[in-house]
Amino acid sequence: MTHAAVEVWWAKIGDVRWQLVAELDAAERGRLTAYARQEDKDRFLLGCAVARRVLGNHLMIPPAEVRLDRTCEDCGRPHGKVRVEGMELSVSHSGDLIAVAFHPSTPVGVDVEKVDPGIDADSLATVSLAEVEAMELAKYEPADRARAFTTYWTRKEAIVKATGDGMRADLRRVVVSPPDQPAALLEWSGYDGRVQLVDLEAGSDYAAALAILTAGPVTVHSIDAAPLLSGQPSN
Ligand SMILES: CC(C)(COP(=O)(O)OP(=O)(O)OC[C@H]1O[C@@H](n2cnc3c(N)ncnc32)[C@H](O)[C@@H]1OP(=O)(O)O)[C@@H](O)C(=O)NCCC(=O)NCCS
Ligand SMILES: [Zn+2]
Repeated sequence: MTHAAVEVWWAKIGDVRWQLVAELDAAERGRLTAYARQEDKDRFLLGCAVARRVLGNHLMIPPAEVRLDRTCEDCGRPHGKVRVEGMELSVSHSGDLIAVAFHPSTPVGVDVEKVDPGIDADSLATVSLAEVEAMELAKYEPADRARAFTTYWTRKEAIVKATGDGMRADLRRVVVSPPDQPAALLEWSGYDGRVQLVDLEAGSDYAAALAILTAGPVTVHSIDAAPLLSGQPSN
């Protein structure tokens, strides 16, 4: 077991530069084209570019030569968990933020969500929270419920993204600690339980969490990706 730190690289939507498209592979360019909204294109491009430039530096190869595999385990199309030989990684984007987490050997899952005060947290709770979590959520004032729900959501999503289950998992069975308590997985029947869960600081409009599939202690380094994205790739 290695004790290397998890690196979480953060980009903002304003870091986008269209020269970065040159570093994408054909499947990524296809997905980029398919997004209708400019902000979806920008977030996707930035997730790809951060992954490629960080991995390119690590492997000492140009970003365009990094072989990312996004094969979906359900349908085979290139929209699944990002995989690469020799590194574990996870991508998330929401609102103005893009996060990409890396660890050399331990699976990681990151999830960032912009808090939308307009969501109907109570109905979302019926499909994604365990009973005990929904009861906890109900204790919050209606005005605070969107944030509390989003904290629950990112903690659960980080875990199912780390395992690679994604939306295949029934989030109601992934029971995590209440939003005002330190992040932790409390119960997920059938899972062996090895996970460290931490909330990430992402500003007052966002909730974000990171799951690392290890029982051991973890160190997390948050890194601003802007300098990495602004220049020419170093390889
Ligand atoms: C994991 C998932 C639940 C996250 O979605 P989200 O919270 O809306 O979006 P995020 O920005 O946080 O995460 C998106 C990233 O999750 C990653 N991802 C996709 N499937 C994943 C999985 N099963 N496990 C872990 N990560 C996954 C991808 O890297 C994706 O980044 P990309 O768009 O740059 O390729 C996503 O898989 C999803 O929404 N799936 C919907 C179901 C679907 O379309 N399934 C297709 C089946 S054919
Ligand atoms: Zn699919």
